[in-house]
Amino acid sequence: MTIASAAGKAILFGEHAVVYGKPAIAVPLSRIRTTVQVKSLDPGSTGVLIDAPDINQSFWLHEADGDDPLASAVRITLDELSVKAPIDVHLTIHSQLPIASGLGSSAAVSVAIIRALSGHLGKPLEVEALSQIAYIVECIHHGTPSGIDNTVVAYEKPVYFIREHKPEPIPISTPLNLIIGDTGVSMKTTIPVSLLRERWEKDPGTYGSWFEEIGEIVKEARTMLKVGSIESLGVLMNRNQAVLEDMGLSSLELQRLVRAARESGALGAKLSGAGMGGIMLALVEPDTIQIVEAALRESGAKQVFITEVDG
Ligand code: PMV
Repeated sequence: MTIASAAGKAILFGEHAVVYGKPAIAVPLSRIRTTVQVKSLDPGSTGVLIDAPDINQSFWLHEADGDDPLASAVRITLDELSVKAPIDVHLTIHSQLPIASGLGSSAAVSVAIIRALSGHLGKPLEVEALSQIAYIVECIHHGTPSGIDNTVVAYEKPVYFIREHKPEPIPISTPLNLIIGDTGVSMKTTIPVSLLRERWEKDPGTYGSWFEEIGEIVKEARTMLKVGSIESLGVLMNRNQAVLEDMGLSSLELQRLVRAARESGALGAKLSGAGMGGIMLALVEPDTIQIVEAALRESGAKQVFITEVDG
């Protein structure tokens, strides 16, 4: 039997603009994970059985729809590993990550499946190959992904990421205390991404300058992470949120949580990921963690995750 897991992720700065070639910064959430167990099938059974009890799914690979996300992750992995002969295995997937919420659930599921299957078949992969395979799976479901999700999840390190460039792990000199509030509104990444593309195509000047502005915020944030200036990072998060709001990517639920976090003492707060639902992220000092957590819950957060990120 082989067990492998993968972390969730949060984008600290630069979502959306990263699709248009600007830099972004993302961090792994190592305490919130997806786990995949692979074991040989009982004698007499043949094929690949996929169980995901958290989402009430259990099916055979050969019976799955062509676009089923779990089945495509398995098929692509077997293809990329050049597994030609039929294999008889049972995969069980458990995830602590809410689906379609900005925490990288699809990338984490893919990376954990690839790690578990490649390990089980005696074909372990380098992290770059792992990330590339997960990117192929992301492309099937997300159209034009920047590649930031699969990268940060596969490397499990804070990264400074520019599309089609080698990801740069970034040092974080002072640990970051982050509180994540889940609006409970699930939002497929493709919806805000394609809406933004339509708006950008209609008005490339305005949207282009917003992407530029986000790019500048990300570069400043990288320096502030290096020197450990937590207060400045909070200010930069608020600036990034303001541009995301201008672009129409926030929502009433996100606004409510962002405001609650700021008013209860967070240094900064913003949506994280695709937006229009999903999660928001607040940066806090250790002594305000509980106050901000309570404020988020009172303001309607369906789940709250507290995490510390270091470099
Ligand atoms: O919502 P998520 O976690 O899938 O993040 C999407 C991030 C975007 O920048 C909006 C899209 C991308 O491919 O980078």
